[in-house]
Amino acid sequence: MTERHSPLASGAATILLTGGAGYLGSHTCVALTQAGYQPVILDDFSNSDPVVLDRLEQLLGQPTPCVRGSTADTKLVADTLKQHKAAAVVHLAGFKAVGESVAEPLKYYANNLGGMLSLLQAMASTDCRTLVFSSSATVYGDPATVPITEDFPLSHTNPYGHSKLVCEDMLAALRHANPGWQTGVLRYFNPVGAHPSGLIGENPRGTPNNLMPLLAQVAAGLRPHLDIYGQDFATPDGTGVRDYIHVQDLAQGHVAALRALLAGQPSFTVNLGTGRGQSVLEMVKAFEVASGRSVPWRLAPRRQGDVASCFADTTLAERLLGWRATRALHEMCADAWRWQLSLSGQTQPTPIGRPGSRPP
Ligand code: UFG
Repeated sequence: MTERHSPLASGAATILLTGGAGYLGSHTCVALTQAGYQPVILDDFSNSDPVVLDRLEQLLGQPTPCVRGSTADTKLVADTLKQHKAAAVVHLAGFKAVGESVAEPLKYYANNLGGMLSLLQAMASTDCRTLVFSSSATVYGDPATVPITEDFPLSHTNPYGHSKLVCEDMLAALRHANPGWQTGVLRYFNPVGAHPSGLIGENPRGTPNNLMPLLAQVAAGLRPHLDIYGQDFATPDGTGVRDYIHVQDLAQGHVAALRALLAGQPSFTVNLGTGRGQSVLEMVKAFEVASGRSVPWRLAPRRQGDVASCFADTTLAERLLGWRATRALHEMCADAWRWQLSLSGQTQPTPIGRPGSRPP
């Protein structure tokens, strides 16, 4: 079902953007449009809100065409590709909660693998064979060393990670069978932050799984404290180290990947991270500075499956795509905080003078 129409900009290459109303999708939609592409969103709104379309229109000054539906609907995808004469697909639709994937594996295999299979069938049937695919650093499992380069051994520890690996394998098989396929596989590290306008950002349903939205909710007083999962990792302060990357930088990475593929560059697989690792305690401090609020925390046992340290070697993305992340940690935190305030209907930080708690 087509939900919204708008005249397509003449001459702009049309890009089917699956999951375009989601967290990463909405930022990528803005980046693609500002780079001169015409995104057409395909989203089933299973984990996103149609109000995002209004926010995108506010930001872009024009509506973005949107088709409401699933990538599992092969006919719908093929019809959409044909109708809009899409030059390429950026595929972001998929489930991403690690814990949920362990509890409900079939849901993940059905959606992430079924959706990918159907999408690729639709693309093959319409001769659209250029794809940017959202993969994840989770495909490196528990890396033996850091920083991680793209040739590190691959493994999986949960159905979500397995689904990403199988999708990468599907693309490799397609390229082998038909060199006409051009694919850009992007292995994201930890996307955080929000658009600086405060109009779009991550709006997790229920309890967030990830650190940054939890930090924001604790700072906003919506939660009493943050649980820090483990302080006995082999890291400088004992807490887990990750490569947090601003979602705006990640969105730019998609534009760079698409541009390279459309210019005829051979298929590639690259890490999208900053190349720097931050510990949980460093994140708490950075968020306190950005928000002007205290973030009480307490120690909790390690979370099952968490690795000590995970950050990217970003050399390959820089060499192949001419892309690198430019936004610093304080921007990630400031933008996440602005978004949190807009979610709770506030416009300015109003320090509440709540003392931070520290473990004895
Ligand atoms: N953490 C806490 N307390 C919390 C939440 C997280 O201490 O309440 C810690 C974690 O232990 C970890 C760090 O904060 O050290 C980051 O945790 P996230 O859940 O934000 O992110 P992960 O690195 O665990 O997972 C992310 C994505 C996954 C992806 C993975 C790949 O959410 O989808 O990166 O590296 F698979």
